[in-house]
Amino acid sequence: MKIILATRNNHKTEEIKRILEDSKIEILTLKDFPDIPEIEETGKTLEENAVLKAKQVYTAAGIPALADDSGLEVEVLNGDPGVMSARFAGPGCSYKDNNLKLLGLLKGISREKRGATFRCVVALALNPDDIRVVEGKVKGFVTENEIGENGFGYDPVFFYPELNKTFAQLNSEEKNKVSHRGFAFRKAKELIKKISNIE
Ligand code: IMP
Repeated sequence: MKIILATRNNHKTEEIKRILEDSKIEILTLKDFPDIPEIEETGKTLEENAVLKAKQVYTAAGIPALADDSGLEVEVLNGDPGVMSARFAGPGCSYKDNNLKLLGLLKGISREKRGATFRCVVALALNPDDIRVVEGKVKGFVTENEIGENGFGYDPVFFYPELNKTFAQLNSEEKNKVSHRGFAFRKAKELIKKISNIE
């Protein structure tokens, strides 16, 4: 079974391919379809964005499409940056800009109040009218400084207490075992296996 991943992000592609690896699914990405234009994430929620990306990519590529939208929800910021995670520090900002903005907003806030959840919503478009949605999440804390070199995005400021490390101190295999994206794509993988065997 061929599935297209609705992303051009190399970090994400690598993480997702590793998660889906042992199944009989051939993974293509938007890099294999250079003519498909960039999809604007106009949804108000992670779910809306995942669904709109999966639908549009299915329509453009003509094969089942998997799309995810993820974000970091910080308790003391009432769930922000959430769906705005990529653009938190403004249009064209870097991961570093976002991390510095977040650390600045949380300056002086005690550890108990620095709780945050990474959430990932995955939409699988089997056709434009049959979209399945699954979700994964992981809880941790926002650190006071960036720690670690691996991963991307908010990984250096997301402390995962069970391993006593930030996500940026984990390699991609370790991160996949516990990450929001790992949980969500393992659910998606089960769904794909079930559908390709039964339906
Ligand atoms: P996306 O929807 O997965 O592209 O995620 C949107 C934004 O959320 C990214 O640009 C990152 O800033 C942040 N993000 C999502 N997943 C992760 C992760 O696994 N680690 C760190 N940041 C993430």
